[in-house]
Amino acid sequence: MGLSTSSVITLHVNGEKHTLPVDHRTTLLDALRERLDLTGTKKGCDQGQCGACTVLVDGRRTVACLQFAVAAEGREITTIEGMATGGRLHPVQQAFLDLDGYQCGYCTPGQICSAIGMLAEHAAGWPSAASEDVRPAAGPAPLTPEEIRERMSGNLCRCSAYPSIVEAVARAADADDASSAADTSAQSGEAAA
Ligand code: FES
Ligand code: FES
Repeated sequence: MGLSTSSVITLHVNGEKHTLPVDHRTTLLDALRERLDLTGTKKGCDQGQCGACTVLVDGRRTVACLQFAVAAEGREITTIEGMATGGRLHPVQQAFLDLDGYQCGYCTPGQICSAIGMLAEHAAGWPSAASEDVRPAAGPAPLTPEEIRERMSGNLCRCSAYPSIVEAVARAADADDASSAADTSAQSGEAAA
């Protein structure tokens, strides 16, 4: 009896479950684009070099061209189509729009997903190769343009829209800080009341 080369799997994408048969060699990228019609996730190099296919898997940025769909079963996958909530763009999407963080737009979904994952990594205190002081006691390195460039270096832009991409990520990071500060002061206000 030969080994089976396909399986029926359930993918959790943007809060919805999709059950589908897949060849075991199908990448997550091809499953998203070709089987689920989620074509916001782009295929650039198909070999892990360009970042165009970046999505979030359990909140971590992942290049979908290097992950088999079967390995993503049961994990929470978020693509660019799932970033807006209640008709409002995610703050990173809004910043890219406001600051022209793109030219042709092909790399943009991957840039945005990567930036969202990167800001979460930064908030969790992960250092980068550009961080001067990596001791945990030093806290998160300030998100300087150098830090942003280093942390986003897995996402290439053939249009070279890098200056505005860096500005957009910096603005989204500032908005994130402002809303965390507002949450904290609201919570301390509640605690004091
Ligand atoms: S298409 Fe996946 S990294 Fe380029
Ligand atoms: S905007 Fe064209 S590849 Fe980045």
